[in-house]
Amino acid sequence: MNTSPLRVTVNGQQCCLDVPGDAPLLFVLRNDLGLNGPKYGCGLGQCGACTVLIDGKSARSCVIPTSGAAGRHVTTLEGLGSKTALHYVQQAFIEEQAAQCGYCLNGMIMSTVALLQKNPCPTDEQIRNALAHNLCRCGTHVEILKAVRRAMQ
Ligand code: FES
Repeated sequence: MNTSPLRVTVNGQQCCLDVPGDAPLLFVLRNDLGLNGPKYGCGLGQCGACTVLIDGKSARSCVIPTSGAAGRHVTTLEGLGSKTALHYVQQAFIEEQAAQCGYCLNGMIMSTVALLQKNPCPTDEQIRNALAHNLCRCGTHVEILKAVRRAMQ
């Protein structure tokens, strides 16, 4: 067990976390840092509700021990955009009214950000593949696809 504080950069700020190294990153983000963008869904790495970016790549924070983020850059939904403006992907999801219950949107948005950073002009098939493991129980997939397309403009 890691007993020394873990240094993790979260949304651009270096954090010194005095938590067990095996604590799920999701719990530390939500409970210790008050960042409620990432959601608890399945806790098994299968639904995508907890998605964050680690060094720019999408990652399931419910199955990543906090020690796995030590020395790395974690971005949550709160860390996108600026203090005065939403990130363009967040804006696109609002404009397309992609949310029904909204629980999946953190994962959808974070996965879209990761996708567009890697591939600014994905095909519909590439978008579907990138979001395939983010589950939406309401079935707003058509609006989500439109939102991603809008974000590409
Ligand atoms: Fe992490 Fe479902 S809560 S993938």
